[in-house]
Amino acid sequence: MSKTKSMTQQSHPHVWSSARIAETYLAFFEQHGHLRLAGHPLAAPENSTSFIIAGMQPLMPYLRGSEPPPAPRLAALQRCLRTDDVEMVGSNDRKMSAFQMLGNWSIGDYGRREAVELAVELLSIFGIDWQRLWITTFGGDPSLNLPPDEDIVAEWLRAGIPGERIVPLGAEDNFWTTGGPGPCGRDTELFIDRGEAFGCGRQECRPGCDCNRFLEFWNLVFIEFEQHPDGSITPLPLRSVDTGMGLERMALLLQGAPSAFHIDLFLPAQQRLHSLLPNEHDSHDGHGHDGQPSAMLPAQREQSQRMIVDHMRAALFVGAEGTEPGRDGRGSVLRRLIRRAATRGRLLGITRPFLSELLMPLAQAHGALLSEEEQQRVPLLEEMVRQEEQRFQRTLTAGLRMLDSITPGERGVVPGELLFQLHAERGFPADLAAEILAQRGLQVEWPSFERATQAHREVSRSR
Ligand code: ALA
Repeated sequence: MSKTKSMTQQSHPHVWSSARIAETYLAFFEQHGHLRLAGHPLAAPENSTSFIIAGMQPLMPYLRGSEPPPAPRLAALQRCLRTDDVEMVGSNDRKMSAFQMLGNWSIGDYGRREAVELAVELLSIFGIDWQRLWITTFGGDPSLNLPPDEDIVAEWLRAGIPGERIVPLGAEDNFWTTGGPGPCGRDTELFIDRGEAFGCGRQECRPGCDCNRFLEFWNLVFIEFEQHPDGSITPLPLRSVDTGMGLERMALLLQGAPSAFHIDLFLPAQQRLHSLLPNEHDSHDGHGHDGQPSAMLPAQREQSQRMIVDHMRAALFVGAEGTEPGRDGRGSVLRRLIRRAATRGRLLGITRPFLSELLMPLAQAHGALLSEEEQQRVPLLEEMVRQEEQRFQRTLTAGLRMLDSITPGERGVVPGELLFQLHAERGFPADLAAEILAQRGLQVEWPSFERATQAHREVSRSR
């Protein structure tokens, strides 16, 4: 009896539900003197048209020393959205557009030693297998005029991580910036080795390799500099710590899920999506997408499913905060996410609007990770997504038909004017068209797309 029970418990995938992981993290840091902050809305504080891309973004004035923080130790769960490389979503087990980042911050308070001690203590609460933990550190960079971060190596050795699992890497990997001007610094990243079965098989596969084997799940950044628009760095008045743990990545690890798109937050939506897909055996028959599944490779089908649940979760976050699909600013990002997901659905052989049906399973799976008001908005969002997807149907059908009929020039290159026409005449997004063509191994000749766009602009201006 007790054996059966313990086996059931062990094999239960959601003992560490995402909500429990988040609560454990935040409560742990509260117990260690951190003030728990509510996450900032996704709308970025300094720029009315974009979204938060990192947990530290709302805290920039504190990290810069330009405003006093409410406490020197802070912790929060922050939603983030990155759509600059949205076409890469689902290309591996971790790349998402929207994600939730757990963070703890020391604003001029503790440094490397305590940041590592706190991380080690929390990871033992999560039951992380030490043998599978790998660390990367900043290995020095002459252009930044910074030597290797030996202090952090010493702290990890002190914490009991053997030297062979501490890997120094260059500034590209271990010097964190916001991607532009702002507080920045050397970092140390924590990885779990998921095992050879997830790897690329290359001899030199290690943390920092792009494959699915070594999963980075936590980044501890030592914010000590301000990066200026010209790329130069100068010391900040405070030495701070900024950490970011990907909630979905941690859930992947603790739930033993195959990918971040298969954790508790996505499973009900994945199941619903699966029930909408045409029969598996119909799906490799090579038909087009006018009612029949397209001839996508299994990896492309998998990526498309990941994109759909990812984009609809992002739409849920953005829409729950009050943004509606539109032509400009944040509304255009929401529209693009919905159109991209709709297109992926059609390519998978779903011939009617379906996206709104994924919202409730997503919202329910997120439970308290959405506020009560956000949960209450879900029926409105369903209607909004239904209408938006409906409006896109004809464009989608016409666009895909036109893309199907394209015969590439030599070496599989498609003239850019064709994509311009598709966009100008039918409203079919060029980036989406390029992505669909890429699946067929076709490249777009972008200079002629730019020329056509430019010519169109000149004509419109002279009218
Ligand atoms: N700001 C750091 C990151 O986003 C922790 O990775």
